[in-house]
This record gives sequence, structure tokens and C-alpha cells, in this order.
Amino acid sequence: MSGKGTPETLYFKDNMLHLLDQRLLPNKLSYRVCKSPEEVAAAVREMSVRGAPAIGVSAAYGYLLAVIEAKEKGFTGTDFFSHIETAFNTLAGARPTAVNLVWALQRMQEKLEHYRDCSAQMICLEMNKEADSIFAEDYRNNMLIGKHGSALVEGKSSFLTHCNAGALATAGYGTALGVIRASHEEGKVLKVYADETRPLLQGARLTAFELMEEGVPVALITDSCAGSLMQQGKIDLVVVGADRIAANGDTANKIGTYSLAVLASYHWIPFYVAAPLSTIDLSLVTGQDINIENRAAEEITSIGREKVAPDGVEALNPAFDVTPAGLIRAIITEKGVVHEPDRDKIEALFHNW
Ligand code: MRU
Repeated sequence: MSGKGTPETLYFKDNMLHLLDQRLLPNKLSYRVCKSPEEVAAAVREMSVRGAPAIGVSAAYGYLLAVIEAKEKGFTGTDFFSHIETAFNTLAGARPTAVNLVWALQRMQEKLEHYRDCSAQMICLEMNKEADSIFAEDYRNNMLIGKHGSALVEGKSSFLTHCNAGALATAGYGTALGVIRASHEEGKVLKVYADETRPLLQGARLTAFELMEEGVPVALITDSCAGSLMQQGKIDLVVVGADRIAANGDTANKIGTYSLAVLASYHWIPFYVAAPLSTIDLSLVTGQDINIENRAAEEITSIGREKVAPDGVEALNPAFDVTPAGLIRAIITEKGVVHEPDRDKIEALFHNW
């Protein structure tokens, strides 16, 4: 079924950040309007906006809102900058795993340093430009990731993907779904199998929705169905996104990604990670150093508002897991493809950045 196209994930207008409220998809299209950095942090924490690059872009606009507030409140000197620093910390603490969040905030902070001695008016203007650049670059990078990734696809293929690494998780086009989108444009997509992605169902609610809107053939499966499909020879390749990639290529992504990588390896199916350089954290030596977010037990003891587990049951709900680099056939970035990733190859990517 071909739909109307994926709605915009976020946009900044009249000094407000408008976020497509992804908690309500696919049943309702509604934008959550944020007028302050605290409101942006709450939207990230509550997952109205989610997906590493989209979180980063939102944080950049949250930072901009802090700058606008500082100007409108007439703050000067230390007061001006400490107001922004408080907002930085609030935004940075919203979710721990996606490195794009802190990456975008640091980029905004560096820009602010550059214009430190200018008028508040000028600072606002320049910070607005920087947030817009982070947005535009993310979109452009995803198109490049799509192009590099589709070159790896041989003939008409069946894809498996997990969670949502699409337009909804980014400024637009998507990373893993960018690869799928570009492959579809080249007539290389037979079918995309989308894991429903328990517990928050990003695959069912978002990926299935997005691919249908884009007219890409998609079939929804339960997470536990993936192995059986691989065994039957129905999957040609797996492509997923990433929340944080350590210097050696170990990759944190939505819980269940590691299981898929192990299954893919057993069945000799290529397993690809698609992510921009802003998701790579060179400060972490391996994936063991990645801070994995633990979320509320209620997300798995209930489905929606319906309780499905006995009161008081112990429940573990890590939102992400880490796939060792050895299980990843290649990491697809805007700078090109890193085959069999390791520290040297990943560091080399940054040399011309
Ligand atoms: O908890 P979420 O929905 O923010 O998790 C998102 C993912 O795991 C995505 O795969 C990842 O952020 C990459 S999005 C391009």
C-alpha cells in the first residue's frame, strides 16, 4: 500500500520546536510543541521524539531555546551563560545511550564559545543557524548512507530490520531505512521484514507505518520470528541503526539487535549497521563502556494500559544491547562503508572529516 509519505519528524518555527509525538503513532498525527529546553528534555525522556539522530537534532533546538530565553530575560554576562549551561545539563541527562544527544549539545556549545563576546541578538541568530545546520547535515548524511548502503545490495533482496531507524528517528530519510529507501528506489527491495520490537513496538508502530507511507513492501513479524525466517532462507540481509558505536566498532542499538546479529552470523547472512559519524564515540574503547539505559518495568509488565504480568513480578527492561564488532559485516556511514570494522578503520574515517 502506498501512503502519503512520512510526516515531518520535527521542525522549528516561531521560536518553538514542533515534535511529531511518536507515542501516538500510527493512530494519531499530532505535534508536541516545546517552548523551553526543559520541555524538549521531557519530550526526549518520554520518547515523543526518539532515535539517536532525532534526539540530537532536538537537543540542538532545545539549546537554542535556552539561548533565546536568556536573551528574552535580559540576562547578561555570567547569568546569560550559566542559564545556558543549566539547560545543557538538563538536556544531556534526558537519555543516556544515544551519543548524538551530547554530540549535538557540544557542537552548539562550541559555536556559542565562538560568539561569546557578541550581542545576544547576534548569538541567537548564529545559534539558530547552527541548529539548522545540524538538522540539514543529518538529512544529507542519511541520503549518503542510503546511497553507500544500497550499493551493497545485490539484486532484489529481502531485508530484516529492527526498531525504527527511519525518517522518524532522524531529521529525515533515515539510516537503516535510508539504505532500504535507496534500495527501493533502485528496484532492489523484494520485501522488508520489520521486527515489532518489544516492548515499545517501534517496529510495529513506526517502521511498518513509515514503509507503508513510502510504498515499500513490508511485513511485520514478532521479534521471535526472525530466526525461523533466516532458517527458511527468507532473509538476504539485516540492516539496523545505532545509538552509540565505540571506537572498535562495538555497537549499542535497540534491545534485541545482538540476538539478530548472532542469528545472522549462524545463518551466514550479512549484518549491517547504518549510522552517521555523529553516532561514533571515539572516547569509548569498547562497547563495554557504553551506558545502557534501563527503563521502567511497567513497559514490559503492561501492553499499553493493559497489565499482562502478575503484580510484583521482577522485570528487567534494558532499552539497548551491544553487538560486538566481530558480528558486524560493515558499518555504513556518510563517509563510506567500513567493512569488518575495527579501531584503525573507524579512526581513519575521521581523518578527513
Ligand atoms: O529507544 P529508541 O526508540 O530511541 O531506540 C532507537 C534505536 O534503537 C535506533 O535504532 C537508533 O537510535 C538509530 S535511529 C537512526
